[in-house]
Amino acid sequence: MATNKATMIVDKDFIIGEVDKRVYGSFIEHLGRAVYGGIYEPDHPDADEQGFRPDVIELVKGLDVPIVRYPGGNFVSGYNWEDGVGPVAERPRRLELAWRTIEPNWIGFNEFMDWCKKANTEAMMAVNLGTRGPDEARNLIEYSNHPSGSYWSDLRIKHGYKDPHNIKTWCLGNEMDGPWQIGAKTAYEYGRIANETAKVMKWVDPTIELVACGSSHIGMPTFGEWESTVLDLTYDNVDYLSLHQYYGNAEQDTETFLARSLAMDSFINTVISTADYVKARKRSKKNINLSFDEWNVWFHSHESDKKLDPWQIAPPQLEDIYTHEDALVVGCMLISLLKRADRVKMACIAQLVNVIAPIMTANGGAAWKQTIYFPYMHASLFGRGNVLVPLLKSDKYDTKEFTDVPYIESVAVHNEEKEEVTIFAVNRHLGEAVPFEIDLRSFGDFSIIEHIVLESNDVKARNTIDAMDRVKPHTNGNAVIENGKIVSSLAKASWNVIRIKL
Ligand code: AHR
Repeated sequence: MATNKATMIVDKDFIIGEVDKRVYGSFIEHLGRAVYGGIYEPDHPDADEQGFRPDVIELVKGLDVPIVRYPGGNFVSGYNWEDGVGPVAERPRRLELAWRTIEPNWIGFNEFMDWCKKANTEAMMAVNLGTRGPDEARNLIEYSNHPSGSYWSDLRIKHGYKDPHNIKTWCLGNEMDGPWQIGAKTAYEYGRIANETAKVMKWVDPTIELVACGSSHIGMPTFGEWESTVLDLTYDNVDYLSLHQYYGNAEQDTETFLARSLAMDSFINTVISTADYVKARKRSKKNINLSFDEWNVWFHSHESDKKLDPWQIAPPQLEDIYTHEDALVVGCMLISLLKRADRVKMACIAQLVNVIAPIMTANGGAAWKQTIYFPYMHASLFGRGNVLVPLLKSDKYDTKEFTDVPYIESVAVHNEEKEEVTIFAVNRHLGEAVPFEIDLRSFGDFSIIEHIVLESNDVKARNTIDAMDRVKPHTNGNAVIENGKIVSSLAKASWNVIRIKL
C-alpha cells in the first residue's frame, strides 16, 4: 500500500481575510456550574474579594479570550436582566425553565462585567427575545451604555458603576427557531421582533453591532428558509447572522467523527450564500457576516444529564469530559472557521468553564485544562493575522457518511507585525504518520520556531482531576527545513502547530 502524504502551498499575497480576533470568543451561560462553581465560588479557599476564582481567571487568560457571550444560551430567553442588578440580598430566586434549575441571581450583569475586566476580555451580551422584547432591550442598553442623566443610566450609577460599560456586541435572542426555546418563534415572528429591537437599541447607541439568530443547527427543518426570512426582515438593522453547531461521536465511529468539520465547511458556505442571496434581492451594498457563536463537541453528558433532579442550584449539567479525539475535532473546527475568515468574524467555543468547556473545576478544589483547551489556546495565541489560501493536496478516505475526507486538514496564518507564519494541521489518520510538505514560496528566508504536537496513543485519553496532564502538547515535533520547504511527518491522530519566523 502506498504511503499517504500531503502537500500545501501558501503565498503571502493570496489572502482569504484578516482574522477578526473575536473568532476566538467563548461563552458563559447561567447553566450548570459555569457561573456558580465555575467563574464564581465565594466559599473557595482562593476566592478573591468578589468571590471569583483566580485559578479560573488565570486559565482563561492563558487562552487570551477576546470576547465572552453572556448570559445565554437558552437561559436568556426567560431571563429578566433586572433580577441580576442592585443589592444581591434583594435579588429574587427564580425557577429557571430552560434548564429546570433555581437561579439565585448572585451574579448578574455588573458582576459579570467586573469578571470580564479581571479575565482581560469583553462581553457579548444577549437580550431576551423569548419572553420579552424591544422595551427591556432598550432599557438594558441604556443601563449599560448610556453615560448618565436618564432613569436607567442613573440606576447603574446608583448601583456603583459610574462609567458606562460600553458593550459593543449584542445578540438579538438565542436559537429562536428551536421548539425547546422559551418563547420560540416562527421566522416571521422573530424577524419582526428582532428588527424592532435592533432599531431601538441602535437609537440608544448607534455604535453597537447586532447579531440576528440563524438556525439552531443545520438539521433544523426550516434551515435556509429561516435565514432568508429573518434577514429579509432585519437586513438594514443587523450586522451578523448566527450559526450554532455541536458534533458528537455517540456511534463510536472516529473516522466519521473526525470528518465532521467537512459538514461545518459546507454549513458556513451555505449560510454565506443565503445571506448573499438576500443581499442580491435587496440590491444592497452591505454584507452580513457570520457569528458562529456556539460551536464545540457535545455528547458525553447527554445520558447523565437526564438523571439530574430538577430545581437545584448549579447542578453538574453538560459536564463533558473530553478525549484526545475530541481535541482533534475542535482543531478541525478551528481550521474551518479560519478558512472563511473573510466572512466569519466572530465565533464562540461553547462554553468556557465546566459546561462543555475547555476548563474544568472541582467545587472547593482545583481547576484544570481539558484536552480541547490546547487547540483553542494555540489558535487564539498564534492564529492572528492574515489567513492564507491553503493549496492543499492530501490523500483521502471515505466513511459511511463522508467521501473524500483529506487525511490532513491545514491552514496557515501570516502575522505581518510579528513576522511569523503559523501552520495549523490535523492528521486524521488513526494508524499512520503522514508526511506533510509545506511550500512557503513567496516568503524568502525563514526558520522554524517550534513544532508543537498534541498526540496520544489512546484517542479516548482524557484529563481528569486525578490525571490532569494525561493529554498535553509537547514541542518535539519533527518539522525541518529541506530545500526551502518545511518537511514533517505528522504523527497519527495529531494536532500540530508549526511556527515559522520570517
Ligand atoms: O450551549 C448549550 C446550549 O446549546 C445553549 O444554551 C443553547 O443555545 C444551545 O442549544
